Formats: sequence, structure tokens, C-alpha cells
Amino acid sequence: MGISPQLLYFVAGFSFLYYFAQRRPNPLHSIPTIGFSAPFLTYLSAVRWLVDAQGMLQEGYAKHKVFKIASWDRWMVFVSGPDMNEELSKMPDDVVSIQAAATDLIQAKYTLGENPVEPPIEIAAIHGPMTRNLSAIVPDIVEEVVLSVEKAFPQKQEWVEMTRMPEVLLQCIACVENRIFIGAPICREPEYIKIVTDFTVDVMKGKLVMDLLPMRLRPILGPLLPWRRKAIRLMKKHLGPVVAERQKGLQEHGAQWDNKPDDFLMWIVEGAWNAKIDSDFIYQTFLMANFAALRTSSLSMTQVLYQLAYLPECIQPLREEIMNAVAEDGWTRAGFNKMWKLDSFIKETQRYYGIAVISLRRKTLKTATFSNGVVVPPGVLMAAAAAATHFDEGLYKDAAIFKPFRFVEKREADGESTKHQFVSLTPDWIFFGLGKHACPGRFFVSILMKALLAKIILDYDVKIGGDGSRPPNMSLATTVIPSLKARVLFRKRQSYDG
Ligand code: HEM
Repeated sequence: MGISPQLLYFVAGFSFLYYFAQRRPNPLHSIPTIGFSAPFLTYLSAVRWLVDAQGMLQEGYAKHKVFKIASWDRWMVFVSGPDMNEELSKMPDDVVSIQAAATDLIQAKYTLGENPVEPPIEIAAIHGPMTRNLSAIVPDIVEEVVLSVEKAFPQKQEWVEMTRMPEVLLQCIACVENRIFIGAPICREPEYIKIVTDFTVDVMKGKLVMDLLPMRLRPILGPLLPWRRKAIRLMKKHLGPVVAERQKGLQEHGAQWDNKPDDFLMWIVEGAWNAKIDSDFIYQTFLMANFAALRTSSLSMTQVLYQLAYLPECIQPLREEIMNAVAEDGWTRAGFNKMWKLDSFIKETQRYYGIAVISLRRKTLKTATFSNGVVVPPGVLMAAAAAATHFDEGLYKDAAIFKPFRFVEKREADGESTKHQFVSLTPDWIFFGLGKHACPGRFFVSILMKALLAKIILDYDVKIGGDGSRPPNMSLATTVIPSLKARVLFRKRQSYDG
């Protein structure tokens, strides 16, 4: 049975009357809207947002520097283009907050937990010692990559089909990232890996449950979500003895103890000791670091693997480049730095497909004013239209064409060799964000992804299964999810001169 036109006219008329009656001088009203502005009709926009967020963002990007879109329960404000990306990234923390945005967007209070210290211990550890020690941890990354690929991928010298690649890669990446976070052999224990991989799924599950609840019920029902408490309990079981040992060392010898271990675990335990916080937060911190690292890395890696399988003609040039780099510098950071084609292939895949259509998520804590006079009141979620920026023809020539080695060409120009890398931060490349909150794990994940791809490229011939077309992504609001069902074929090569 269809809806009668009279009913539609009534709803539309009522919505407009209600809208004008309710109108108060709210700065949000003067920001242009993509979709509907009138109450009730905004729900139609919210439905479109769920299935076509990129279409709406693209429309806003083409027309406005700042615009707003309605979701179920709020307005979100978006900025367009490099200048505005830069402005948003430079706004002070007391005006716009990345933490408050995460708290809202993934309901962090109930799903991930709240950070007891500022700056959060894991962010300080990733920014500081982990990034400083990156060259030293490369051999561990490479060793764990080799072990995890040999375990997860077929060993036959004939074509073998694999499905559920995001899950396979999540397992591999969880082992490699935890080799750095916790060390071996815990990073290979299936029970431990299950805790951290389940947690990344449970956080998203918890977010979905909370999103469906009315705002007023969230503080009552949120604390009842079981997953975070369960994960902390299980982490305690696994890491308890090793954490206790490190705490004992600090108590007996203080921070300056001879032969003090110099690894991620120690930096976290010491961070918690300095801040005098409860041990439970140590386990929560590991879960938070795993959440920040695992989902993003495994989905990004899946996109690259699908693209490689879809374009097998790119494999040979990549293989040659990897073999030359390894012959000159071994499996070192310097060697990975020489893999320009691989770096470009990864970056172009993220430009073209990516894992989210927005970046630079922030929430206003005070009124934020842009240089063009646009005013955003406190309590509003803001973000940058990342995919629209990455498809801007003025910034990326032939933006609609996938050019695997696009960034090699750019780097070959005079004085440009260190720009245009996957990890570079520029206002026209915001995959890792921009400014002081840009992803601190990007150097680590860039090496991890290169090591994983290099191992696969050297060991396997790869091609896409089925009818040979690239598996389509799924989109849910701003998230881009690579297909779970895609079929990828692997054939182990006999040997290589690596
Ligand atoms: C391909 C994988 C990854 C992607 C796409 C990614 C992306 C991002 C983005 C977009 C941000 C927000 C930046 C901003 O708004 O300015 C961010 C922040 C962050 N990322 Fe990553 N990330 C990845 C891997 C990792 C890894 C491996 C780690 C840990 C080792 C990590 C740790 C963090 C942390 C702790 C923050 C918060 C920084 C802050 O609040 O100041 N990320 N990441």
C-alpha cells in the first residue's frame, strides 16, 4: 500500500511550520545544508547518509567550504579542501577535541573506556619511544610477518583460492602488531590474539547498540555492556604475570634500573607507574592501542591486496623493486624506504578506495570560528571530506583513474623525493589526519604493510577469482568496508633471488 499524497503534503507542511516556529538564532542555521533542513525531513537525509554519505559529501565539497548534514541524532559539520583541512587541524585542543569526537562517535566511554591521563599513555609511547626505535624494531616486524604469512597462506605450488581476506589479514596483523606491543611468544598465542581481535569487533558492536538507544538511556544502559570488562579480565589473565614482573622491577630499582627492558610493554607499565594509575588501566591501554591499530591496518591492507590481485600486471615491477632494495639494504628501514613503487601502490589504493570517506574528526568544546567567518557552536561534531579531497581533480590530475605509480612520478621531480610518501602529511592527503593529532602509528604501519606485501609478492603469484572484477566495497555511513566474500587465488612460487 502506497503513502497517500495528502499525508505527504501534511507532513511536509507541518515540518516547515514546526521548523520556522522553533527557529532560534543558532549559528548552525546559517551553515548551508546538504539534504533536508526541516525537522522530520532530516530523517530522510539521515537515511541517505547511511547509504550514500560520499555522494552527499561530494555535493557539499563541490558547492561549499563548510556545510552541514543531518544524521539520526545530530547535525555534523564538514569542511572542504586543503585550506579548510589545515584550518581544522590547527584549531586548539580547548576549542575542538579529537578525544571528545571519539567518545561520541564510537561511544568510547562504554566501548573502549576513558583515558585516565592526558596525554593518553599509549599515544605518548607511540609518538615517543616507539617511533624513535622504529629502525631497531624492523627485524622483529619482518620476522613476525614471515611467520604469520607462512601460517595463514597456502603453501602449495598450484592455485589455491582464499576468501574472508579481511579476517585472514586481521590475524596476521594482530600477531605482527602485538610482537611490538607485547613481544613473543604471547603475540602468537591464539587465545591472546582472539582477545584483541574480538575486542576490535566488540567495540564496533557496542557502538552500534549504543547508537540505537535514545540519548537519555545511554548513561544507564551503557555501563551494562559486557565486552570491555570481559576483555580487560582476559588481558589480565594473559599479561598479569609479565606486568607484575615489570612493576616489581620499577618498585625495587626505580626508573633508572640497569638492564631495564626497552619495549612497548615497559613504556606502558612505566607510564602508568609515573601517573600512579591502577593496573586495570594498563590492560585497557593495550586494548586501546590494539583497537587504534588493528582495524584500520587490516582493512587498509585488504584494499591493497585486492587491488594487487585485480591488477596482477603490477606484480612484476613491484617484485623487481623489492628484490633490488633488499639486495642493497637487506630487510631494513633503509631498504623499505627505497620501495617507492610499493609505497605509491599502497597510497594510490587508499586514495582511490580508502577505509573511510571522512578524516579529522573533531568535536567543538567552545565556539569555533573559521577564517571565512563561519561559526560552529560548542557540542558539534566536525570532520573533513577526505574522499572528496582525494578525488579533487585540481589536486590529483586524472583523479578518477587509478594510477599505481602516480606518486613515484611526483617524487622523481626535483626536490620532491621525500614528499608524496604514504606517510606524508599534507592538507591534500589526510588519510592519516593532519597536524598535531595525525596518526602517530603511521610510520610503523607503513613498514608493516610493506613487509607483508613484499613477503606476499615475493612468495606468491596472486590473482582475483570469480569473474575477475574487483570485489565491490560496502559503505555504511562514512565507513568503507572491503568485501568479505571476494575470492583471491594464491600460487606459491618455487624460489626467488631475495
Ligand atoms: C593504515 C592504518 C591506520 C590508519 C588509516 C590510521 C588513521 C588514523 C587517523 C585518521 C587518525 C586521526 C588523525 C587526525 O584526526 O588528525 C589516527 C589517530 C591515531 N592513530 Fe592511527 N591509523 C592507522 C594505524 C595506526 C596504528 C598501527 C597505530 C598504533 C601503533 C595507530 C595509533 C593511533 C593513535 C594512538 C591515534 C590518536 C592520535 C591522537 O589522538 O593524537 N594508528 N589514526
